[in-house]
Amino acid sequence: MKPPVIVVGASGHAKVCIELLQAIGETVLCCVGAGDDGATCLGIPVLDGDHHLARLRDEGQSRAFVALGSNRLRARLGGYLRELGFELVNAISPHAVVSPSATLGSGIAIMAGAVVNADATIGDLAIVNTGATVDHDCIIGVAAHVAPQCALAGNVSIGDGAFLGVGCKAVPWVEVGAQSTVGAGAVIISAIPPRVTAVGVPARVLNKQPNK
Ligand SMILES: CC(C)(COP(=O)(O)OP(=O)(O)OC[C@H]1O[C@@H](n2cnc3c(N)ncnc32)[C@H](O)[C@@H]1OP(=O)(O)O)[C@@H](O)C(=O)NCCC(=O)NCCS
Repeated sequence: MKPPVIVVGASGHAKVCIELLQAIGETVLCCVGAGDDGATCLGIPVLDGDHHLARLRDEGQSRAFVALGSNRLRARLGGYLRELGFELVNAISPHAVVSPSATLGSGIAIMAGAVVNADATIGDLAIVNTGATVDHDCIIGVAAHVAPQCALAGNVSIGDGAFLGVGCKAVPWVEVGAQSTVGAGAVIISAIPPRVTAVGVPARVLNKQPNK
């Protein structure tokens, strides 16, 4: 039997990831949460504070999954877990369709109903959320998040840490720059630069940049 998984995070996103991990036969030992997280998450005990991670590693735990919705935090905690020597496992729904020719990183989540097509690349710690479609030759960057029901045509490139809100669409070959946010329902028809927020149909960069 495989060693159990430590889940970092105890929020709604963590709940989905826990059920995903369980659906693929993983055992979740505990969650590591912070502050206002409850004592349990889907019945799994929640330890309060990242300091527990080093202790768990010292005690022999070796596998972890970062279930944090914030791209920045997910990248940071993923790096920390690697420094501690944890293996970052993948949480890929049995109800997702993932091409055998796709390249998958580690620590990624691919939710139910998602489709990842031929020769797509999903970077470490990325999320392809419920029902999102990532078509052939797309590149999803490290710790990027493609929210539920997004539809990416072929050869789309999403930069590291970028976030596509629910229901975004992207035409073939467009690029979204690293750390950018694209609002829910946007249609991306041309390149979005790094570190901006873009919204609308077609997607346009907002002048006012939100706090990230
Ligand atoms: C784009 C987004 C991040 C902007 O959030 P924000 O920084 O709080 O921005 P504001 O709400 O102040 O909106 C700024 C402007 O953009 C407009 N706007 C915001 N989101 C928009 C959207 N999705 N589509 C079209 N216009 C949008 C607002 O109406 C506002 O316009 P105004 O200045 O003319 O009044 C947010 O609205 C959004 O779409 N988030 C996606 C959330 C999501 O999909 N989560 C999935 C989790 S799995």
